[in-house]
Amino acid sequence: MKATKWVVSDKKQKHVYWPSKEMKARAWISSEKVYAEADKNPTQFWGRLAKEGITWFKHWNKTYEWKKPYSKWFLGGKLNACHNAVDRHLETHRKNKVAIIWEPEPINEPTQYITYYQLHKEVSKFANVLKKLGVKKGDRVGIYLPMIPEAQIAMLACARIGAIHSVVFSAFSGESLKKRLIDGEAKILITADGYYRRGKPLNLKSQADFGAKGTKVKKVIVVNRTGAKIKMTKGRDYYWNDLMKTVNSECPVTVMNSEDPLFILYTSGTTGTPKGVIHDTGGYLTQAYWTTKLDFDLHDDDVFWCTADVGWITGHTYSCYGPLSVGATIVTFEGAPDFPDPGRFWSIIEKYGVNVFYTAPTVIRMFARFGEEWPKKYDLTSLRILGTVGEPIDLDAWLWYFKIVGGSRCPIIDTWWQTETGGTLINVLPGVGPFIPMVAGRSFPGIRHKVLDAEGKEVKGKEGYLFQDKPFAPGLLHGVWKNSKRYKKTYWSKHNGEYYDTSDGAKIIKGKYIRMTGRTDDVMKVAGHRLATAELENAINLHKDVSESGVVPIPHKIKGEVPLAFVILEPKAKPSDELTREIISLTRKIIGPTAKPEKVFYVKDLPKTRSGKIMRRILKRLLNNEPAGDISTLRNPESVAVLKSELKKLKL
Ligand code: WT7
Repeated sequence: MKATKWVVSDKKQKHVYWPSKEMKARAWISSEKVYAEADKNPTQFWGRLAKEGITWFKHWNKTYEWKKPYSKWFLGGKLNACHNAVDRHLETHRKNKVAIIWEPEPINEPTQYITYYQLHKEVSKFANVLKKLGVKKGDRVGIYLPMIPEAQIAMLACARIGAIHSVVFSAFSGESLKKRLIDGEAKILITADGYYRRGKPLNLKSQADFGAKGTKVKKVIVVNRTGAKIKMTKGRDYYWNDLMKTVNSECPVTVMNSEDPLFILYTSGTTGTPKGVIHDTGGYLTQAYWTTKLDFDLHDDDVFWCTADVGWITGHTYSCYGPLSVGATIVTFEGAPDFPDPGRFWSIIEKYGVNVFYTAPTVIRMFARFGEEWPKKYDLTSLRILGTVGEPIDLDAWLWYFKIVGGSRCPIIDTWWQTETGGTLINVLPGVGPFIPMVAGRSFPGIRHKVLDAEGKEVKGKEGYLFQDKPFAPGLLHGVWKNSKRYKKTYWSKHNGEYYDTSDGAKIIKGKYIRMTGRTDDVMKVAGHRLATAELENAINLHKDVSESGVVPIPHKIKGEVPLAFVILEPKAKPSDELTREIISLTRKIIGPTAKPEKVFYVKDLPKTRSGKIMRRILKRLLNNEPAGDISTLRNPESVAVLKSELKKLKL
């Protein structure tokens, strides 16, 4: 690919790459025209895409409706997401094409290849299992599974019968699972006996048992993965394999309204409790299909590998609904990226001839640390397009990815989006370009963004708050489960609720390119995982010796950000390494290993507002050796000087 010396915004920015001739020739979209068409009439544009990409049982009556603060797409349209991802391919040349290539972690275990035909059989059978256990349209089904094909099969089976799945990341604790099962009032839980991680079989069932206890879960389905001896509760627990033997593979799809929920997925917000983001069927699927096809220029013979776990939105959209609706072959991998050695990912790319690879900056930084000798051992020439998601990617990681993994041949598609947006919203299209490190790209065709200051005035060339303008993206969330108040407050409380609030900072360059500058609320991205500072504080505060705590993110070389905890102890308690260990293990138990604080500092007092809120902003500034700023409105302004000297003693 040709690099030019086009200076975008500042003097440091000299890497600007444009698509090669071959890239342009192959691309679905190779010119600017699509942006102009979409912008002229975004509603009509999305209507055209929905008609072309998605199979509808009944065409909609109205393309778009906005009744503040809810937007609706394809009203009156009828479809089924599973039919789009699976059934419709059976009538085409894709019938015996491999849909899912599954690579287990143990290297001596064989790869599983599942064709669309086989996937249809498995999904239909499992949908019948769910029906047999009493699951009906609209019921919630908890899915707590590792990266095994049963995860996608379970999701698609729910979609097939109109049940709403709620997937919980398998590395989350039983406690986190319980919270989500309670809030979603799930009737059934699907889990596994365990899975392999770094060569060891891990037990998932005991966490699942803990999570299910005290909830409305009546039946637990256990996938036989490791064959470990586990406790099964009579009358509640059943093995997947046993149930699958009792059903046939005929299961008609349930006809759904475009507006019917497809799934809920919990994500962290500013408060301590995760919220259940609701995604509907028609709008979400339209965005999933088209962003997969256009962002990654996905063609029929492509092998697509998105490394995200199905426990996150990226896994929902790009390890399941998007590429399967397009009819691609996807790769899924059970294990750790560096097991048994740091060549594992690259060996998978070589083995299956992966053409499109989509991962997170934190993964790239980790591999860059292992050294280029690892990717160099493998043939990576099948790669055509590289993608990244989840957090800003820094220049070093971008260049390493571009040169070492992509051989300076593959464009890097930096995709900005959120759990709430269902699919990507800001990125560059591979046939259009330009690809610029640390500039996510531009609004996807048919999507409009605005960068505003605190008063709601548009800012140009300066950092501001990123909002989405009307018409809102088809994939945008359709509410927060059982909590419309929180939905309104979180996303629509600024500027009269006229724009969707992303809670991200951004800067517009050259009128259309967008540089993301990070979250503007109390949310961190730890190794790409979203975590609220309040969630972590709540967990730490559960310790009997802790009186109060304040958590702030600090930069980290590989993980991007890591949490750091300031703790005020109860009068009688004393700081100790033992106590720190206890606090860390408590966060693991309540949230999961991703939430582990990097350091725990014991302090006497923390700066607070008059209403008693800990001022994390000031903590962050002090950690960065910056002036604390205006402290006159604090309840305890004297705490700042004390904290400063305490931090000095800690020699950070
Ligand atoms: C937050 C959303 C969307 C899938 C995974 C994350 C940050 C996401 C980028 C990017 C800079 C990014 C934002 C956003 N983010 N992608 N390409 N460049 N920042 O979904 O867990 O809901 O997190 O991740 O801060 O708000 P999520």
